[in-house]
Amino acid sequence: MNDKPNYKTWIRMNKLITIIIITLFFIIIALLPINIYIRIISAVFALPFLYMMVILSSSYYQFAPFGGNYQSKIHDLIVSNLKAQEKGKILDIGSGSGSLIIKLAKAFPNAAFIGIDYWGDNWEYSKKQCEENAKIEGVSDKIGFQKASASKLPFEDSLFDSAVSCLTFHEVKDEKDKVKIIKEALRVIKPGGSFVFLDLFMDNKIYGEYADLVKSVKELGVKEIDLIKLRDEMKLPFLLLHKRVLGNAMIVTGIK
Ligand SMILES: C[S@@+](CC[C@H](N)C(=O)[O-])C[C@H]1O[C@@H](n2cnc3c(N)ncnc32)[C@H](O)[C@@H]1O
Repeated sequence: MNDKPNYKTWIRMNKLITIIIITLFFIIIALLPINIYIRIISAVFALPFLYMMVILSSSYYQFAPFGGNYQSKIHDLIVSNLKAQEKGKILDIGSGSGSLIIKLAKAFPNAAFIGIDYWGDNWEYSKKQCEENAKIEGVSDKIGFQKASASKLPFEDSLFDSAVSCLTFHEVKDEKDKVKIIKEALRVIKPGGSFVFLDLFMDNKIYGEYADLVKSVKELGVKEIDLIKLRDEMKLPFLLLHKRVLGNAMIVTGIK
């Protein structure tokens, strides 16, 4: 086992590498001493891939610890926004490689944690990686990891004192209505319990019109709710503000 935790960024490495290879392929064809029309067509094809490559590689750099470390900073922001009980039971929905829940376990050493994730093949995260990271960070006795979908949490109503989730709800493929996923997350929190959910809540292709979403979320029967644009809470580098990255990110926080 490694002695350093391995937290993957939100950018899938295999996707980034595929886009780099396609971009280089078209650029090389465009530079070859061959038919000019083929070169022009290749250059045109290269452009959208070059654009995606710039966005993805700069996002990767900004999220990674050796770059801007924004992934860790955003998890810290979620931790600092969570009004958790000292000895509470806390759920993380979509744990990825465990970074957020491990930070929570360190911030609330007397609480107990469950992290669920679907850990599908298209992500580079795994339950094993979460467990190893928790062990390396010295918090494995406080956290249980479980494979489950955010759309159907395998827990009774009101089991948790708090719940968090980061950039997961929009990824859930087995439920189209994203408000139902928020509702499912709230179901397992006790009345009076707290929550912090960060997702692309301002992306109307995923969540519908923003005003309708705010209305639907407010109608879910919570005592307090606050919707904060991520870019108002934290200064983000220009390219992370792209709407396909974090430009539509928002924190929904409150008390059930
Ligand atoms: C962008 S990653 C975020 C991971 C983690 N929350 C973080 O902040 O590092 C999205 C996560 O959603 C998870 N996911 C996708 N579909 C899911 C589902 N139906 N239920 C639970 N998690 C899911 C993926 O496995 C992945 O870990």
